[in-house]
Amino acid sequence: MQETMTLKNKRIIIYIVILIFLLWGIKGIWWSGTSDAKSVSLISETTLRQENLISSLKTEVARLQLQLTKCPHGGQDDVSNLPIIYAITPTHKRPVQKAELTRLSHTLMLVPNLRWIIVEDSETKTDVVAKLLAKSGMQFIHLNAATPKEWKLRAKEPRWNKPRGVIQRNAALQWIRDNVDPGTDGVIYFVDDDNSYSLEVFDEMRNVKGVGVWPVGLVGGLLVERPKVNMLGKVEGWLTVWSPQRPFAIDMAGFAVNLKRFFQQSDWKFAYEVEKGYQESIFLQHFVNSLDELEVKAENCTKVYVWHTRTEAVNLNQEDVLRKKGKPPSNVGIEV
Ligand code: UGA
Ligand code: MN
Repeated sequence: MQETMTLKNKRIIIYIVILIFLLWGIKGIWWSGTSDAKSVSLISETTLRQENLISSLKTEVARLQLQLTKCPHGGQDDVSNLPIIYAITPTHKRPVQKAELTRLSHTLMLVPNLRWIIVEDSETKTDVVAKLLAKSGMQFIHLNAATPKEWKLRAKEPRWNKPRGVIQRNAALQWIRDNVDPGTDGVIYFVDDDNSYSLEVFDEMRNVKGVGVWPVGLVGGLLVERPKVNMLGKVEGWLTVWSPQRPFAIDMAGFAVNLKRFFQQSDWKFAYEVEKGYQESIFLQHFVNSLDELEVKAENCTKVYVWHTRTEAVNLNQEDVLRKKGKPPSNVGIEV
């Protein structure tokens, strides 16, 4: 009796095992079927999304092309025929340097046909600047020229004690002499790394035939310094308060010189031994014979398109705290 029971049990167990195998097989087929269906529907969803993206990008390209044809230079083809702007920027290492150059490069990269001549005040070119320039996709010339020790501002020395950017601007001018065809249609503009530039200032200067001038905001202790323009639209003096007796009482950001005009007397150089505030005057006296030949820009000098902003010295006192505690500075392994 017991033997027949075990035999029966064995059979039942065998049936159950077979049933489980059968069910397993069916389930396997069913699952694989649905996962295939799932991946098919996933693929088609991704394709659909990509197609949507492509079509919206195409619409965007068409919209931008239309906008480009409406812009003053009439679209991309003409851009390479525009007079070239040689923008000369002296720059020196300090905690805010990368921030300043990032801000400036993001303006300059929007200006068509501009060559950025950036001159580092250092013995060698630095990685920070080289990488920033490479990343910008701009047409740049990367140079370096270190300020002689005796002319370098000491920590805490008032900045007006010594002129800045002298040897760097000379290096850029020398690069132009050595590399630019004197017949090139273009202008030279001194672009300090801490000022703020509206794109309009570049449109104003591009077609200057001799020397063009315009107002500069936030400079010389005033909200704006600007050329005094008479009824005939000619410059007859300067609306400034600080050192108004200067022949050209204008900041470096307030003028641009045509390249051909520059090449007429191109051996000229900036110098350190110049009275405070006279760098611009001495430069312009060399390239301009009289005030009334200056080309008045920015709607008769009534618009401000450039500001002589200055970034405040950054507070790094907590770095000192770290140092005193024997800890590494906050920028280990990270470029700021
Ligand atoms: C004012 C004018 O706007 C400058 O064009 C002029 O060079 C300067 O005075 C001067 O009298 O020399 P300010 O704001 O006082 O400008 O000068 P900074 O902005 O400190 O320096 C002008 C340029 O020279 C900047 O692009 C700056 O990065 C660079 N610089 C400054 C150096 O290359 N090395 C330095 O040690 C200091
Ligand atoms: Mn400045």
